[in-house]
Order: sequence, then C-alpha cells, then structure tokens
Amino acid sequence: MNVYDSAKMADVLAPIGFTSCSDAGSADMIILNTCHIREKASEKVYSELGRLRHLKEKRLRNEESTIIAVAGCVAQAEGEEILRRAPYVDIVLGPQTYHRLPEMVARATRAGEEKNNYGRGVLDTDFPTSQKFDYLPNEGGSQGVSAFLSVQEGCDKFCTFCVVPYTRGAEFSRPVEQILNEARCLIEKETKEITLLGQNVNAYHGLDEMGKEIGLGGLIDRLSEVHGVERIRYTTSHPNDMNKDLIRAHGQQEKLMPSLHLPVQSGSNKILQSMNRRHSVENYINVISELRNSRSDMALSSDFIVGFPGETDEDFEQTIDLIKEVKFSQAYSFKYSVRPGTPAGVMVEQVPEELKDERLFVLQDVLKKQQTEFNSSKVGNVLQVLLEKSGRHASQLIGRSQYNQAVHVNASQYYVGQVQDVYIDSVLSHTLQGSIKNHVKDIESRQKSERIEGEHV
Ligand code: 5AD
Ligand code: SF4
Repeated sequence: MNVYDSAKMADVLAPIGFTSCSDAGSADMIILNTCHIREKASEKVYSELGRLRHLKEKRLRNEESTIIAVAGCVAQAEGEEILRRAPYVDIVLGPQTYHRLPEMVARATRAGEEKNNYGRGVLDTDFPTSQKFDYLPNEGGSQGVSAFLSVQEGCDKFCTFCVVPYTRGAEFSRPVEQILNEARCLIEKETKEITLLGQNVNAYHGLDEMGKEIGLGGLIDRLSEVHGVERIRYTTSHPNDMNKDLIRAHGQQEKLMPSLHLPVQSGSNKILQSMNRRHSVENYINVISELRNSRSDMALSSDFIVGFPGETDEDFEQTIDLIKEVKFSQAYSFKYSVRPGTPAGVMVEQVPEELKDERLFVLQDVLKKQQTEFNSSKVGNVLQVLLEKSGRHASQLIGRSQYNQAVHVNASQYYVGQVQDVYIDSVLSHTLQGSIKNHVKDIESRQKSERIEGEHV
C-alpha cells in the first residue's frame, strides 16, 4: 500500500514541478512514507530524520532549501509530536490527506521565508475522509509491467494486536467505475498485471454504475473484461471475507492468478480468539479446501505471529500442525510486538523475547522447507511467466510465475511485458531459473519480420 501511495504522491506533485530522484542529497523535497505496523517504526523514523536534518542543514549553508515531509501511518499516529521532536520537519501528513500535498507544499513555502526554511510546521492528518480518491489523478507515472491499484482502504476488524484500524481508519471501498478508469490508464502505459490492494481487500463492496453493490469477485469479473489486463491478483485478505463469489471467481476467471495471500496468524483456536480474528482453524482449513476445489493448483501464502500474549508451547505446536496440513508456497512471519493503544499491548501474559526468538526460528525453518519444496516441484515443468524487467546480470530478465514465484531467465529486452512459457531448469534459494520455450521460434519470426520491414523500406 505504501508503494502505491508513494507513486500517487509523485503523481500529485508532478503538476507543480516535482519529479522523483534517487539522491536525497540533491532533492528539494524529501518525503518519508512510513509504516506503523510493527514495533520500532517511530524510532526508525526519528533516527532517519536525524540523518536528513544534517542533509538539510548542509544544503541551507549553500542557500538551498529542502522540504522534509513525514507521511503515512507513523505520521498519522504521532502527529504534532513529530514537529515537537524534530522541529526541522516541515510537513506531517496522514495517509488520507496526501492528495492535498501541493497545497501543503505551498503553505510550507510561504511559511519558509519567516522561518528561515527550517521547520515550517504544516500538519495535515485529518482523519480519515477517504475522499482522496476523488482528487487523485488517474494519469501518472508508469508503475511498470506489474502495477498496484488501491480498491479498498481501512479496516473494521480490530484484531487485538493490530494498529491498522487506528491509523488507516474505517473500511472504505472505491466505486467500480473509478477503479476501471484507473486500470485503463495503467494499461495505456505498460501495465499487464494489476494487483488490487486493500488492508482488507476481500471485504470490498463498491458501487457499480447502476448503484448496485458488488463484491471483490464481481469487481474481478469486471476488471477481466478490460482490454489489455492480462493478469489480476489481490492482497491482503481476511479468511472471513473469502465468500462464495470470490471463490467462484478463482475457478472461472483465467486472468485471476492461482495464488493467494491469506493471513491466518496462528493455528491455535484459543489464540485466534484472543486475537479477535473471529474465525477458527477449522474455518480457515475449510476456506482453503473450497478454494482448492474451485482451482486445484492454488498456491497459498500467509502471515504468522509468534509469541502473542498467552501463547503456550502447545498453541505454538498447533500453528506448526496447521502449516504442515495446509502446505504454504510462501509466508511472512513475525514476533509479536506491542503496539501502543491496542488491546493485546496490555495483556498480562506477554511472552519473553527469547522464547519468541526460538519459536520464530522453528516456524521459519518449517516454512522455508515448504517454500523450497514448492519451488523444487516446479523444476522440469513449464510455468507461465510475466517478464517484468531487467535483472542484475546482462541479458537477464526477472518475471513472476502464475504462482507469484520470482523467475530469472536469460533473454533480451524484447520479452519485457510478455507472458511466456518458461521451462524451469533449477531453483536458486527463493528464485527459479528457467528458459523461454519458444525462444528460437521467436528469434526466427523476429528476424523474418525485420527482413520484411527492411525489404519494404
Ligand atoms: N506484531 C507482530 N506482527 C504484527 N502484524 C500486525 N501487527 C503485528 C504486531 N503487533 C503482522 C500480521 C499482519 C502483518 C501485515 O503484520 O501478521 O498480517
Ligand atoms: Fe489488522 Fe488485518 Fe486484523 Fe484489520 S484484519 S485489524 S488490518 S490484521
């Protein structure tokens, strides 16, 4: 979501003359777009700000001014505290207000003169209107072959460990037509694959042109009809919102990729209840089996938290059992970290840090083995790979299989933006290595068409 938001910030700033650059030292404006999901987020921001302060002061000595802005969920949570602790920061803005960035820059610039371009005190963390989508331009810089498109924001679930409902606000779904328009703009650039985004993306319930509410399954049907969209993914989902229609879409819509990120967090019903996840292990397993009935080759990934307050060895073992039963192709796992203001933060049975470390190690070992097993099972097979961009080595391209695995192939730029049948030769840690099946045929047909063009000239 932050990658998407950053791209949108660049889009809203383009008309007033800003363009992105790769060197903070030469930037007229630096925006830290922050995430608050796990511990130490604020401390990281303050230490990064300390570094930027030196940059800003150095530039001031050369009579160059730098606007420093802090955006995102840390900005939303900390608000004025940032201006107090880091008085050289010029703008603090929340995730719902960045469409107003040009105005904030203008206010900061005006305040600049009297404050000697040092700490211009613009604060805009209005909470949360979700009106920003009405003001964001569809037209913008290209996100590349694979792009994000935000369709839903916020969360009403209030898992007891999570800060998102407080920083991103209530659930909100964008209207269908607005989403399709943005998709068409992406396709006009170079995008082939769209990942629909939302903190609770499968809780999507937007209005179509007739004013009728549709769910994510219906939205995927509509997006599949957009000319030029070749692949669709969505993230992140909640198990309770995996409704029948969405499961149906997995079986029906060929453009919808057979991979799904479905966080479960824990394999213990006691812990799930204490997390306020509102589903059981059995519900989760049931959803997975319905999904696999609808699309037999679904690849599943998930999020896990170890060391949630009250988690015993037995609870932890149940998580390992769940992993072994479902078999994940990929996963993210975290030690529970206290988020101030959340119910779990004040639960009494906090798990000691060393025990969290131990459990994380064990859990990641099991998950890593499953990932390797899944990847290895593809060696000798042909996967459909969307080639996205150049790799680190000359004539290497990086793409993603339908199962969301990173795949490297040796091929020319000609293939960027194409879905190709790739024969998988080997697995290198997390990445697959493959070769394009029709490589020779493609080269021949390209040479032939070049010859014909040459003759015509
Ligand atoms: N501690 C550890 N992990 C967390 N996550 C969210 N909040 C916390 C927390 N307080 C993890 C969850 C979620 C992912 C995005 O981050 O697993 O699915
Ligand atoms: Fe956080 Fe996801 Fe739970 Fe919402 S559903 S509170 S975003 S973990």
